[in-house]
Amino acid sequence: MSPTQPSDPAALGAVRRLILEAERPVVLTGAGVSAESGVPTFRDAQTGLWERYSPEQLATAEAFAADPSLVWSWYLWRARMVRAVEPNAGHRALAAWQARTPALRIVTQNVDDLHERAGADVLSHLHGSLFAFRCAECDTPADVDPSAVVALAESAAPGSEAGLEALMHLEPPLCAACRRGRVRPDIVWFGELLPERAWGDAQAALEECDLCVVVGTSGVVQPAASLPFLALGAGAPVVEVNPDRTALSDAMTHVLRGPAGTVLPALLG
Ligand code: APR
Repeated sequence: MSPTQPSDPAALGAVRRLILEAERPVVLTGAGVSAESGVPTFRDAQTGLWERYSPEQLATAEAFAADPSLVWSWYLWRARMVRAVEPNAGHRALAAWQARTPALRIVTQNVDDLHERAGADVLSHLHGSLFAFRCAECDTPADVDPSAVVALAESAAPGSEAGLEALMHLEPPLCAACRRGRVRPDIVWFGELLPERAWGDAQAALEECDLCVVVGTSGVVQPAASLPFLALGAGAPVVEVNPDRTALSDAMTHVLRGPAGTVLPALLG
């Protein structure tokens, strides 16, 4: 199926009609939907103190076991960074669509809470959340306020990299339940299984949908990248919203080349 080209203004009209007709739409988002809020995507180079690390080096159980403080501080730093930014027009357009079409289900690979802060309900956080924590040994949920932890570390040297350096030496707390394991982010690390409920709900939603809109994902990380093909297999049109070509582009029914913060309001306004 040769996808309609983004430069063709008819593409926007065709997708707008699909959106108006859809009774069971699903949106699958990736890091690109948060890019215009200032949250770096995974394929963006890391900055500052983190530039010498890649997410693949930090987002693993092995990295946490080898250097708990380093991994712990990276997640707290990311949580603090998300708290410092706002949802963008793309998040708000999706929330407005869901307000007028409550059947719209949002499945995200993102661990930020920007969809929720824009007013949307998220069916599945496939890779967990920066704001959820659990014991690395007994899985008991742990109550951690990332902003408070970062503020404590930064109190050593407010608003400077020194504060971040201090953060990088913070030990993750011990689990209050088992007193044995360390508290870790409740995030799916490379090589780990996705949360059963989140994955099952996402699969069912994509198999039942009558339209799938894929926003801001490179489509390289499995099993999330297989979800659009469930929709295609069920006969639903799949639309890609992304400024760049991705591993999914050739299979899409429509491709809208552009940033989510521009394309989604144009589609849904
Ligand atoms: N609007 C829409 N898409 C954008 C924008 C934007 N403003 N800016 C960048 N993008 C696109 C990029 O072109 C890229 O295709 O967002 C995509 C981001 O891709 P990745 O960085 O690979 O992020 P993602 O696809 O969400 O990664 C999936 O990989 O590292 C793991 O668990 C992590 O959830 C993450 C998963």
